Amino acid sequence: MTVELDWENLGFEYKKLPFRYISYYKDGQWDDGKLTEDPTLHLSESSPALHYGQQAFEGLKAYRTKDGSIQLFRPDKNAERLQKTADRLLMPQVPTDKFIEAAKAVVKANADYVPPYGTGGTLYLRPLLIGVGDIIGVKPAEEYIFTIFAMPVGNYFKGGLAPTNFIVSEEFDRAAPHGTGAAKVGGNYAASLLPGKKAKTSGFSDVIYLDPATHTKIEEVGSANFFGITKDNQFVTPLSPSILPSITKYSLLQLAEERLGLTAVEGDVKIDELDRFIEAGACGTAAVISPIGGIQYRDQLHVFYSETEVGPVTRRLYDELTGIQFGDIEAPEGWIVKVD
Ligand code: PLP
Ligand code: COI
Repeated sequence: MTVELDWENLGFEYKKLPFRYISYYKDGQWDDGKLTEDPTLHLSESSPALHYGQQAFEGLKAYRTKDGSIQLFRPDKNAERLQKTADRLLMPQVPTDKFIEAAKAVVKANADYVPPYGTGGTLYLRPLLIGVGDIIGVKPAEEYIFTIFAMPVGNYFKGGLAPTNFIVSEEFDRAAPHGTGAAKVGGNYAASLLPGKKAKTSGFSDVIYLDPATHTKIEEVGSANFFGITKDNQFVTPLSPSILPSITKYSLLQLAEERLGLTAVEGDVKIDELDRFIEAGACGTAAVISPIGGIQYRDQLHVFYSETEVGPVTRRLYDELTGIQFGDIEAPEGWIVKVD
């Protein structure tokens, strides 16, 4: 390890690392791609990504294990989700092998920035697919850039494993009922900036979004999926066509059932039935598992387990998931991809 950083207190901030990967799509095909030290993208002022939001991104992490090696968690699932998003926005797919090889190359090239085991830090990878070129009509680009850059990160929500509170937005939705909520496109996040700012200004970590059609069911927790634990040991998470299909959420659904003996349920989470849950949390690559202390809905703060302490089931889920990601606990088949 040649780099010295405050590994225990990284937060979630951009940092310019020495290397990133870039590949160009032209005349119907991807080039081989390469690592570059240039952190600036050069693109036409008329690029459809800039004007019409023809772009997509992903988020995944590299983890340092106890023996000093580095591994990725389910990168094939990020590749598949990027392919689905690309289909939705008429962009060319990035093949899974190309995606994983690029991710590995970026991690290897920046290995000095993968936080040491035991600090809680990880290397966050940000794959980005954008439509570029000289087009001004509302139509798909003919040229694309696929890039992956990286940075060391710590907690996304300030509390880490300490619970924080969230507030329901009835004023704004992040996605339309049949829109692009299930695709990882920048427009969804642009739509979330104003409600997110309002929530943070009022002292909450982020917004709980309701289903856009009826405003009766929980959809997302800012940039993470929701889960709740019931008194009778169910792990419940919303099922909706307008939420991002979280890789962490699907991993937890499986671990909850196979490793913790819970009943895993994807279904409706009605906002007026929060009493069902004795614990609740937000899950995602950046969020990992962030316990939800309470949810402010209209004039009431509904507290789940505690506003200050993580509940026992959430803690077990966290230990199981992060134990697998950092290589301390055996992973289900195919979940771990070694980098070196
Ligand atoms: N929901 C939204 C809106 C997100 O941005 C993310 C982050 O990727 C998630 C959920 C969690 O998804 P994942 O677990 O695949 O990171
Ligand atoms: C992730 O968890 O990877 C995300 O994309 C969340 C985020 C927008 C910071």
